[in-house]
Amino acid sequence: MTETGKPLLRALAGEAIWPPPVWLMRQAGRFLPEFRALREKADFITRCMTPDMATEITLQPIRRFGMDGAILFSDILILPWAMGQSLEFIHGRGPVLEPVRSLHDLERLDVKRVEAATMPVMETLQRLRTIVDGPDPIGVAKPGQVTLIGFAGAPFTVACYMVEGHGSREFDVTRGLAYSDPEFFDRLIDILTIATADMLCNQIVAGAEAVMLFDSWAGLLPPSEFRRHVIAPAQRIVKIINERHPGVPIIGFPRLAGLMAVEYGRETGVNAMALDTSADMKAIAEQLPNTLTLQGNLDPLRVLAGGEGMRAEARAIRDAMKGRPHIFNLGHGVVPATPPEHVGDLIATIRDI
Ligand code: CP3
Repeated sequence: MTETGKPLLRALAGEAIWPPPVWLMRQAGRFLPEFRALREKADFITRCMTPDMATEITLQPIRRFGMDGAILFSDILILPWAMGQSLEFIHGRGPVLEPVRSLHDLERLDVKRVEAATMPVMETLQRLRTIVDGPDPIGVAKPGQVTLIGFAGAPFTVACYMVEGHGSREFDVTRGLAYSDPEFFDRLIDILTIATADMLCNQIVAGAEAVMLFDSWAGLLPPSEFRRHVIAPAQRIVKIINERHPGVPIIGFPRLAGLMAVEYGRETGVNAMALDTSADMKAIAEQLPNTLTLQGNLDPLRVLAGGEGMRAEARAIRDAMKGRPHIFNLGHGVVPATPPEHVGDLIATIRDI
């Protein structure tokens, strides 16, 4: 086992590190005043697509809190947008897209546009990698220690937004269509699988050292559909990335998958699995090989509440994972009302052994 190198990459390679490396989903976001200040200046897609801004926003939490991972500032819906689907982020409502609900609708989208449309994202990654690994990493807490994480939405979750046209609790239209028009839905998943693998490979070429696949709505599917639309696409994406970029670790996040998370962890080939707040990490760990890194899973609302309750629960998760590869994180994203001091306190708690 290596004793040197970036802690997050070592953990992703299967090493049990103590204390564990830490980063937080949605660490760059509305809970930070410096993020809200930039938000006044441009809409969300512009912020994602302007390398100056996206670079700055990615680094904001690292400067303040010194996390071990910097996750690219972008969004899972940049892929459908880059394919030509109309997308707007409306304040107070979230993303709104023109729904894609038939093979005919699909014809209007073009995966060949993605590479050119996402060039600014790749430029952002290049800049970020130069900064985090540079001799003078402007305010980045630990020079040469921060891992740059790229990401994409997994095909099923991206399909949910593409078909529904907006966020939802149940994604009824999407799941209904997956049953009533499987030819369309399978085609959509297939297109997204290849486009996602290609885009993640481009992110790696641009500088991402690890990539994460967010399947936020995976838990909506019954087991057979979970295998078809969550596990199988993840397997294909992992295989493509492994072939083209051997050794680059992949984190899967099948949110709310319950027991199916075990199958996901065993079958997809991911190096690490992020677990949501509902998961009993220890129980799941016992059913998985010790080489599979687990990431998670403090309730984000614990960080909103802060105090000794947060610290005790964070320590309990950290300590339960001692001796196996673990990356400390939340079970879902930081919520916007979270006081920044609570995040600072959380990071310090994890590192205080
Ligand atoms: O984690 C990070 O800090 C990196 C950046 C990131 C964003 N979105 C920025 C963002 C990542 C990794 C995502 C992933 C994402 N986007 C997911 C998967 C993870 C999850 O939360 O389940 C999903 C489902 C989306 C789609 C999405 N984007 C929604 C539903 C919304 C609106 C709701 C919300 O939380 O605001 C977004 C907007 C979005 N993506 C914001 C940020 C910082 C807020 C935009 C703003 O108001 O400035």
